[in-house]
Amino acid sequence: MQTDNHAKRILLGISGGIAAYKAPMLVRNLRKMGADVVPVLTQNATRFVTETALQAVADNRPRTDLWDADAEAAMGHIELARWADALIIAPATANVIARLANGIADDLLTTLYLATTAPVFVAPAMNVKMWEHAATGRNLERLRDDGVTVLGPADGAQACGEFGPGRMIEPDEIAEKVTAAIGTPRVLDGTRVLITAGPTREFLDPVRFISNRSSGRQGFALAEAAHNAGAQVTLVAGPVHLPTPTGIERIDVVSAKQMKDAVTCRAPHADIFVSVAAVADYRPHTVHGQKLKKSQQRSTDFRVALKENEDIVGSIAGVKPRPFVVGFAAETESPLEHAREKRRRKCMDAIVVNDVSDPAIGFDSSDNAVTLIHAGGEVGLPKMRKGAIARRLVDEIAALYASAGRG
Ligand code: PMT
Repeated sequence: MQTDNHAKRILLGISGGIAAYKAPMLVRNLRKMGADVVPVLTQNATRFVTETALQAVADNRPRTDLWDADAEAAMGHIELARWADALIIAPATANVIARLANGIADDLLTTLYLATTAPVFVAPAMNVKMWEHAATGRNLERLRDDGVTVLGPADGAQACGEFGPGRMIEPDEIAEKVTAAIGTPRVLDGTRVLITAGPTREFLDPVRFISNRSSGRQGFALAEAAHNAGAQVTLVAGPVHLPTPTGIERIDVVSAKQMKDAVTCRAPHADIFVSVAAVADYRPHTVHGQKLKKSQQRSTDFRVALKENEDIVGSIAGVKPRPFVVGFAAETESPLEHAREKRRRKCMDAIVVNDVSDPAIGFDSSDNAVTLIHAGGEVGLPKMRKGAIARRLVDEIAALYASAGRG
């Protein structure tokens, strides 16, 4: 399900000028404002800025080629053009401006320009003489007539050693002008979201514990996406090696018991609870105060008695007032059937299932592929970066929360 209220989706076209080195900064500025950004580079742009740098900051795979079969299979260029709420071209070289003005669609970026109905913004960047040339002036006039907003350029010293108009305006200024024009994305404005992430550790003695491979990445990405969508986010984190996303309150815990205590006292004050953590189902019956010695183990078949941990997400169903509850399910067989059953048994409003038998997704990987299951249907999200999954999930959860009359 999608609403009009989704995070703003921006295609960032980057053409081949020296100012392209500022594109990762522009992606960051747009993401801070809550936007989902797909970078689109011309072939010349790839000489100035790497796809790797852009992918790292955008959390979406950059697109460069109209003929990339893999990328087209994931989202064809016409679909991409429809997906966008805005197309920004920054830097826009004299050459790209000329092609846009004349309707020449000879690469992915210029094709997207013709195919999108979203508002278009260009931030010119070129040598002062090229900027002052009559042809550039004519082309820009034509773009303005076609409804394109021209941002800048700024005056100043240029990379080529000349001085005057032609510098691209700064990334923060571009981001502010575009988001002011299209409206900022705040699907979770005014909501309080509580999220758990990472594993728990259940100690047997001071140095040994039971745990699992959760890195915390999916939960942290969700916390960041919820914050960017306007929520006030509290993140209860198991032992992970991840920095705290900006603007988020983080509570560090170690064991399932500590995680339960941290969640139980906060859940009544949350509007939405998302349980991403891989909480250990069992803990050792006895926690030894000193490190167990090999000599203390009477046989080679050393056995540890285990006790069941309380189910955190299940217990929140009984909290009053009860938040909107979204669980996760890590499954290795028949994922959908098991997740549907888990959602009912644990009284969750929705559950997000990932097939953790696939080593390329789920535990401790950069990507995930999930299905969100709720009372009214199921939404599959194909393999993508965990950040991109998180932003899509935030849109879906916000829509479900609103349609449940809670938003
Ligand atoms: O951390 P990453 O490396 O990024 O990996 C992400 C992930 C694979 C951990 C994540 O996507 C995921 O699947 N999280 C849920 C893991 C899990 O414990 O699933 P489960 O099917 O065992 O539990 C179902 C639900 O009950 C979960 O919401 C879990 O948080 C919750 N639970 C489980 C046990 C317990 N004692 N209390 C709980 O609240």
